[in-house]
Formats: sequence, structure tokens, C-alpha cells
Amino acid sequence: EDPRIDGIKTKIRVVPNFPKPGIMFQDITTLLLDPKAFKDTVDLFVERYKGKNISVVAGIEARGFIFGPPIALAIGAKFVPLRKPKKLPGEVISEEYTLEYGSDRLEMHVGAVNKGERALVVDDLIATGGTLCAAMNLLERAGSEIVECACLIELPELKGRDRLHGKPLYVLVEYH
Ligand code: PRP
Ligand code: MG
Repeated sequence: EDPRIDGIKTKIRVVPNFPKPGIMFQDITTLLLDPKAFKDTVDLFVERYKGKNISVVAGIEARGFIFGPPIALAIGAKFVPLRKPKKLPGEVISEEYTLEYGSDRLEMHVGAVNKGERALVVDDLIATGGTLCAAMNLLERAGSEIVECACLIELPELKGRDRLHGKPLYVLVEYH
């Protein structure tokens, strides 16, 4: 394992019982306060994806907007925001996904991605995988090829990985 990952792990704060009793919230804002750990995080993804002919980095609102853009800039890809409902002004395609209570939706602008483009999907964390699954569906409907999904943190007990259509998922840190 890359020696930088230990430093990253120590900067992720775990907040018990947020936002609800029983949830151990993985707080990445503490990592962002440490320029070295933040840079190491971005660098690890950039080292993995540069030269892989990726032309699209799609980031998931909100926390995927923190890590996606610096990766996109460093690998020379465009950044496409996948947004929560009714935020994008143009024509959109949308995908619903289920949450613990109820459902939510992600939207992407029509025309943001061209057929055959190679895409990387970025978020901070995969729990049940519902969010990443919806994101991948949007990109696939637009005709793009998903190279990989990249997250800082995985909660493996929730088996979100199994919902990703067999596409690869790369994570820096697992939290058990
Ligand atoms: C969190 C997290 C992931 C998602 C993972 O986002 O940032 O996007 O949940 O959960 P899942 O794998 O079970 O779908 P959330 O929508 O809570 O809020 P955010 O806007 O702060 O990113
Ligand atoms: Mg999120």
C-alpha cells in the first residue's frame, strides 16, 4: 500500500451518530484542512488515471465536486457535474436512486458527454452504491464508456461494490 494512504486515513474524522443514531459519519472536511493530505489524495488518483485516455471526469454533487475537478485538471479531462434535482438549467437526463428513507435523483446535462467518451466517476464515499449506480447509468445512457469509479472511502460491509454493473471501483481507504 502507498505510504501516503496512512496519512490520508488519519485525517478523515469519524463522527458517531451523525446525521442519525447508529451512523458513523466519515467526515472528509478534516482532510481538506491539511494541504498535504488533500494533495496526496488528488495525486494518488492522478497517478492512477493519467495517460489512460480519460476525457471526462464526472463528479457527484456535493462531495464529488471537491475531488473531481482537481483530478480532471491534472489529467486534462473535462469535468461534468452530476447534480441533485432541478439545479441544472439545460435539458437533462435523470436517474432515481433509493436512500434509506425515500429516494433522490441525479441529473446530467444532455450534450455534456459524447458517445464513446471514456469517463471516470468520482465521489468521496461509497456506502450502498445507489448514488454511484445512478451516476453510471447517466453516463452509460449518454453513450460513454466507464473506465472506473473512484472514491476515497468504501464501507465494504454495505456491499455497494456489487451494484456497479461489474465496473471496477478503486478506493483509497476501507472503513469496517
Ligand atoms: C453521500 C456520499 C455519497 C453517497 C454514498 O452523499 O457523499 O455521495 O452518500 O451513499 P450510497 O453509496 O449509499 O449511495 P450525500 O447524498 O449524503 O450528500 P452530499 O451532498 O454531502 O455528497
Ligand atoms: Mg455525496
